[in-house]
Amino acid sequence: MTEPTAALSAVIDLDVPGPTISRHLYGHFAEHLGRCIYGGFWVGEDSPIPNEGGIRADVVEALRALDIPNLRWPGGCFADEYHWSDGIGPRADRPRMINTHWGDVEENNHFGTHEFMALCELLGTEPYVSSNVGSGSVREASDWVEYLTRDGDSPMARLRRENGRDEPWKVRFWGVGNEPWGCGGNLRAEQFAPLARQYATYARNHGGNELYRIAAGASDDDYQWTATLMKEVTSRLGDRDPRDLFQAVSFHYYTFTGEWSDKGSATSFTRDEHWTAMSRALRVRQYIAGHAAVMDAYDPTKKIGLALDEWGTWWNVEPGTNPGFLYQQNAMRDALVAAVHFDAFHDHADRLRLANIAQTVNVLQAMVLTDEDRLVLTPTYHVFEMNRPHHDAQALAVRVRDRAEREVDGASIPTVSASASVKDGRVALSVTNLDPDASARVELDLRGRDVTAVSGRVLAGADVADHNTFDGPTTVAPRAFDGATLEGGRLVLDVPAGAFVVLDLALAG
Ligand code: AHR
Repeated sequence: MTEPTAALSAVIDLDVPGPTISRHLYGHFAEHLGRCIYGGFWVGEDSPIPNEGGIRADVVEALRALDIPNLRWPGGCFADEYHWSDGIGPRADRPRMINTHWGDVEENNHFGTHEFMALCELLGTEPYVSSNVGSGSVREASDWVEYLTRDGDSPMARLRRENGRDEPWKVRFWGVGNEPWGCGGNLRAEQFAPLARQYATYARNHGGNELYRIAAGASDDDYQWTATLMKEVTSRLGDRDPRDLFQAVSFHYYTFTGEWSDKGSATSFTRDEHWTAMSRALRVRQYIAGHAAVMDAYDPTKKIGLALDEWGTWWNVEPGTNPGFLYQQNAMRDALVAAVHFDAFHDHADRLRLANIAQTVNVLQAMVLTDEDRLVLTPTYHVFEMNRPHHDAQALAVRVRDRAEREVDGASIPTVSASASVKDGRVALSVTNLDPDASARVELDLRGRDVTAVSGRVLAGADVADHNTFDGPTTVAPRAFDGATLEGGRLVLDVPAGAFVVLDLALAG
């Protein structure tokens, strides 16, 4: 029998660890959009659906298994029309508003600051608060920081106590605006950059609470936006290093196959559309590198982080659902999209410090979908769960010797993606076979350390369109993987078509 040609042949030097892969690259996003908050995270204390203080118990239990490091809230576009003081105090008295971005529905503000912070505590996650620059004021944002984080006696600390919370919360991640070039104010970069400086100035560090301020940034490959922002963020202010004002700048990138007006179906797609999705997902690698290169010119010591604080698939909504609610199914193809994003994140861990998938529940590329009291885990959920060993591990370069490629929409893309990391004497190796129709042989030379044991899990459907439903919740679920063999330092894997594999390698000594 002849050996199939390897789809990927590569070398990994196990004794040359690279930068730390921040666990915050596995962050999440919960916007007041469709059924993410209401019906997803929040059902209210009087709901027959089991809850803790109004927060859905089943959703919390499912998400706790992901070790979510940070949760971005309240938007997105919603953040720039959100007035936080409407979301505190007795719920029955809270003012209502219209969520003009998402479905033009009434927002009753029942899920506000205290509810969000309670959710973070239940999930064991850090809050990432996205503040209103588009329609808010500097004072409003400044007061919110004081309300959340100030100890001792101050107007906002007193107000927080009146609302039942004595101790300040710890809040690190502070977003300054969201998509200012669009829903966040339709601003030019030259307008937003000085505004961001002003808002960041008054987002104070109270007591021991140190903010990590993230200036809203570009879309896709708009490197000019990043250049303008970085110029402003790094230009001197008297004696002060302005880089103390901002700790990161962000950008957003979404994957879809068609045009913006018709993005394609989540579960019904041709092979060509599958490959287009893979090709577009892989672009994230080049976009991260592009923004990072711009940042290098202004900040060569990499003091300022890059944050991809919205990413994921964006398909047409499920038939019959509100177009403003962005509810979509999630197939094995989505899992592959997530997996190749993580490979890119791991490879750029020196500059990329934070990322947030959009979004966690019932919106876009969700982890869980709910229907009344039912809940289902998506294939994307399983990628997040399987990749947990990479959190805070040190990246290991997968140096490609040879690989199969395919022409897609005029570009050549690899058919296999992989990344690796090391932590506590164990190597995590993630391998994704993008080809929906053929298994992939992967050959790796593992050098520098001896590997004593290999085990792993695989995520695959019978087809890349396979997905989980409320009546068939385990169509796509991880199972043990026995397709890897190790001889000396040579690791050979046969990865099924359209599958994602994570191996755990134990290192000697
Ligand atoms: O995640 C959905 C929306 O996508 C966000 O509100 C916005 O920031 C982006 O355009």
